[in-house]
Amino acid sequence: MKHFLTLKDYSKEEILEIIEIAVQIKKETKEKIFKDYMPKQTLGMIFEKSSTRTRVSFETGIYQLGGIGLFLSSNDIQLGRGEPICDTSRVISRMTDMIMIRNDSQEELEEFAFFSKVPIINGLTDKYHPVQLMADYITIKEHGLEDNIVAAYIGDGNNMTHSWLMLAAKLGFDLRIATPAGYEVDEDILNEALEFAKISGADITITNDPKAAVKDATVVTTDTWVSMGQEEEKEQRIKDFAGFIVDSKLMNLASDKAIFLHCLPAYRDYEVSEEVFEKFSETIFSEAENRLHAQKGIMVYLDRNRNND
Ligand code: CP
Ligand code: NVA
Repeated sequence: MKHFLTLKDYSKEEILEIIEIAVQIKKETKEKIFKDYMPKQTLGMIFEKSSTRTRVSFETGIYQLGGIGLFLSSNDIQLGRGEPICDTSRVISRMTDMIMIRNDSQEELEEFAFFSKVPIINGLTDKYHPVQLMADYITIKEHGLEDNIVAAYIGDGNNMTHSWLMLAAKLGFDLRIATPAGYEVDEDILNEALEFAKISGADITITNDPKAAVKDATVVTTDTWVSMGQEEEKEQRIKDFAGFIVDSKLMNLASDKAIFLHCLPAYRDYEVSEEVFEKFSETIFSEAENRLHAQKGIMVYLDRNRNND
């Protein structure tokens, strides 16, 4: 059973195959052609955390593919009252055709997938946000930069950073990550990525210097300094991240062709200046729209590759 839990499980060829499906279906969608790729299928959508983009894009996406999305807030289902993951998974996966989960723990997501009879999609965990990176890659491609990616991630070493690491390591592009000291990426994930990078040729640099990271980059990106669940650390983090804002001064060090990406939600004048955000707003909101298209590609790919036991 093929799941979509982390890009670590996918080869370069598989990632590009999903992108190709997504781009093709995006083209059809823009022409108002809606084919029933997944007729009468139900996508269960379990949310333990808030969401705007992930919820709207998955629910709209499965509908446009001929199926229906079932929004399941963990506050409303028995999972939130302590029903074990192994039971929840065995129940929901007998009634639905695919399940997307946004939860705290990657380990629990993997446990859910282990017990599931249907493909599971990671809609964000503490460790990874792989569906976002598929949308980001489509956006990079639409800007004609896919053969010249020198990416700079500025900010917290979090789920987004880990996903950038895996995408770069699998596809073989250059990635510089600049975090404040103490907010570096997970060491195990970095080491795994470095192993993949040996095969793909990706050049991965870790630094505490945003300027060094951004120099001549073609893609500059960041994420919130305070991820969901870290609200109590907000004050401390704002102090610790001083100097890590992506503003015009920093962007000016990047390549002339550089684009700025943000997975959103964005906190202006913290991780990104209002000026940079507005300058690249068209790109950022295309990136958000590409969540819809990327995830349709992922769902169709998983549906085509499911085993029917
Ligand atoms: N980027 C992203 O996943 O947004 P949401 O939290 O709104 O789903
Ligand atoms: N790192 C952020 C991403 C939000 C889409 C979080 O986990 O809250």
